[in-house]
Amino acid sequence: MIKGNLLYEGKAKIVYETNNPDELLVYFKDDATAFNGEKHGIIEGKGVINNKLSEFFFKQLKDRGIKSHFVEKAGEREMIVKKLDMIKLEVVVRNFVAGSLVKRLGLPEGTPLTVPVLEYYYKSDELGDPMLNRWHIMALNLAKIDELNNIEHIALSVNTILRELLKAKNVDLIDFKLEFGRFDGEVLLADEISPDNCRFWDTETHEKLDKDRFRHDLGGVKEAYQEMLDRLTM
Ligand code: ADP
Ligand code: TMP
Ligand code: ASP
Repeated sequence: MIKGNLLYEGKAKIVYETNNPDELLVYFKDDATAFNGEKHGIIEGKGVINNKLSEFFFKQLKDRGIKSHFVEKAGEREMIVKKLDMIKLEVVVRNFVAGSLVKRLGLPEGTPLTVPVLEYYYKSDELGDPMLNRWHIMALNLAKIDELNNIEHIALSVNTILRELLKAKNVDLIDFKLEFGRFDGEVLLADEISPDNCRFWDTETHEKLDKDRFRHDLGGVKEAYQEMLDRLTM
């Protein structure tokens, strides 16, 4: 594999072309942002940890029948992925009330949800990622109904698999965000799965082991990411 031109630099990752037109190289940075980029910081070593955790999760999901863009890890901070036609949606699945749902539902943080709640957000930095429903998605022609049905099925399966996997490590999966794209007409799971886009709480102590430590200046950010990696892979 030969690293080619820079295709896109995002808030947490850089995407490069490769000599294979169907594949990209993703580079995981240490940069962290919150509140639509208003807050910026560096979490030293985060890129290395998120690359390893994403590899771990994508492989575990593949073993359980969930296809993703992941091809192989290509370096400490680098992963080869299939080049997808990305669907401009952030798909959030929630098992407990946290983050923006506290205000939306008026329930205390940590309240268990009786069913997993799935939400769509429009991936648009200019608009501040507003929440969308299926009608908005149709009107904007972001995805077809069949694709949304597939996305929801995959997102809820990922939830079931990750909850079980994490439960064995004494971690509750509070919520998470996924992204999807098309490859040869098929919807595949993409982007990353890491403490940047999931909320992980210790089952007993409810200690936060994710990016909320950065968002709300709780300290021990890097240690929390490392703790998740150690619990899952050691
Ligand atoms: P953001 O764009 O939100 O700042 P990142 O810094 O994580 O996000 O940048 C990674 C970008 O790569 C995201 O825009 C994401 O949608 C995109 N992406 C993720 N996986 C793929 C893929 N397999 N093919 C093409 N683009 C992808
Ligand atoms: P929220 O409670 O702030 O809406 O976030 C729900 C989940 O989505 C949480 O696990 C964090 C993740 N997330 C992202 O990955 N990117 C984002 O831009 C936002 C707002 C949330
Ligand atoms: N990643 C998002 C941003 O920088 C927000 C977040 O994860 O809280 O805007």
